[in-house]
Amino acid sequence: MRLEQHVLLLPMIWVFPPNPNKFETHLSDSQRIAEAVSVLRRGDLLAMPTETVYGLGADASNAIAVEKIYQLKGRPANHPLIVHLQAPPADSKQKEEDWLAILSPWARHIPESALVLIQHFWPGPLTLVFQKSKSVLDCVTGGQDTVALRSPSHPLAQGLLKAFGGGIAAPSANRFGRISPTSAAHVRAEFIDCNDLLILDGGDCQFGIESTILDVSTEGAPRLLRPGSITLQQIKERTGIDVVTGAQDIVSSPRVSGSLKAHYAPQTPLYLYSGDQWTAQLQKCLQEDLLGKKVALVLWDQEQLNTALPQDDDANKIDYIFVPQEPFQFAQGLYRLLRDLDQSNYQSIYMPTPPAGEDWDAVRDRLQRASFGSGPSSSNHISS
Ligand code: TXA
Ligand code: MG
Repeated sequence: MRLEQHVLLLPMIWVFPPNPNKFETHLSDSQRIAEAVSVLRRGDLLAMPTETVYGLGADASNAIAVEKIYQLKGRPANHPLIVHLQAPPADSKQKEEDWLAILSPWARHIPESALVLIQHFWPGPLTLVFQKSKSVLDCVTGGQDTVALRSPSHPLAQGLLKAFGGGIAAPSANRFGRISPTSAAHVRAEFIDCNDLLILDGGDCQFGIESTILDVSTEGAPRLLRPGSITLQQIKERTGIDVVTGAQDIVSSPRVSGSLKAHYAPQTPLYLYSGDQWTAQLQKCLQEDLLGKKVALVLWDQEQLNTALPQDDDANKIDYIFVPQEPFQFAQGLYRLLRDLDQSNYQSIYMPTPPAGEDWDAVRDRLQRASFGSGPSSSNHISS
């Protein structure tokens, strides 16, 4: 039997309950932004697109509004939020001064290296953690003396930030510990019972995983807190800056919820197998007691070319899903794939461990956490 016959073609459109969000249907971007601004000004939440994942946003200067984020997400109060900031006009002749003016209400000290990073990567998927200025709310920083800032590049996010004129505190728009949303439909599914949550639909996210987070709040080289859409090699190539990686000082290190071992997790058990051992994995899948369910076996797309697959009855036990062995494309589709598979009633999901190498660090990080926290009754779940 040829491989193509086993390929699961994931439905491109999932049927969600009709979107009750009246803003999504026929309004122009500026009308949608105006409505979104009024939601923020009255202290309510909204979901906004960014180039990484969708965010659940509130006015970062309104403590009551920010508290609503923690409540809706189910996120512990000591897990700080990223404040999203507007960028200077693209044609500004004095970008450095503009950035300093934008940062000054939030950051107490802006090291030279941070300014260099900003000039190369903002607006974009890089978050920088600064010493906070006095006026930044404790509920935004989880009580720490640092604040995470980023200027997203998504045009609708920038349009919103410009029209709003303040900072928007926004974590990823998912329930705590779950898979981040990369489309408006994912946000709706995540908060299915919040009919009045305004979701600004900006299409599918360009990067598909969260921003890279660097700590620039201490003396010395920037320190990696979370691998993400921008690699350290890109940072080195474009700025000459070496970012420090490795173990943190547990006592003094900032709390980073993305550093929990279990995170980004599907309800279906997710296992990682050694990337080149898919045939051994296949045999294991076939021996599983599937209780009438199927297994989802994710393979690198190049495996399609050189493969003998099981015949007959065995073939009905497994759906094959082929994914690109290229880190950017893989990241772009990862959360969508995990969500789609999680809703397809599989017994379990098997994914290849990404190859070694820094290009895959962010994806490997997300997959390992997703695997650790996966399963309906996993003791590794969110509480860990
Ligand atoms: O791409 C992204 O970063 C997305 C979009 C929406 O901007 N946001 C996002 O937010 O991933 P969230 O809350 O899901 O993850 C932000 C991470 C958390 O792990 C949080 O603990 C960390 O940033 N963080 C926030 N403030 C911090 C601080 N002051 N020091 C250290 N880590 C901080
Ligand atoms: Mg998150």
